Amino acid sequence: MTNIIRVGVTFPPELLEDLDKTIEKMGYDSRSKAIQDAVREFILEHKQLREEVGSRVGVLMMIYNHTVKGLQKALTDIQHEHGSVICSTMHIHLSKRDCLEAIAVRGEAIEIRKLAEELKTKRGVKLTKLMLAAP
Ligand code: NI
Repeated sequence: MTNIIRVGVTFPPELLEDLDKTIEKMGYDSRSKAIQDAVREFILEHKQLREEVGSRVGVLMMIYNHTVKGLQKALTDIQHEHGSVICSTMHIHLSKRDCLEAIAVRGEAIEIRKLAEELKTKRGVKLTKLMLAAP
């Protein structure tokens, strides 16, 4: 029998509502099982990204809440620090609160990954998707 550890996690209400709707549609009968599966995928994606080496081109998509204090400046600072792998950035104002940025990237996979992780882990960043190809 596998040991189970209970952890407490906080969610914004709308995220939890979306999660419950999604897992119900998918057929999960347990929220815990769905979250465990999502965490496994998160870890796998991170491991795969860490193992990538060599030159890559691609797009980093990011959705964030621009009303979170200091976030806009932090995201701009990070992009300036990693300017050598950024070709261009497109900004779309999705709603009064949310922005989408599509960042075209080109350079060493490890540098692109650092950029993606620094952006992803900031509070107020809701989603990042990194799509890379070998040129
Ligand atoms: Ni905007």
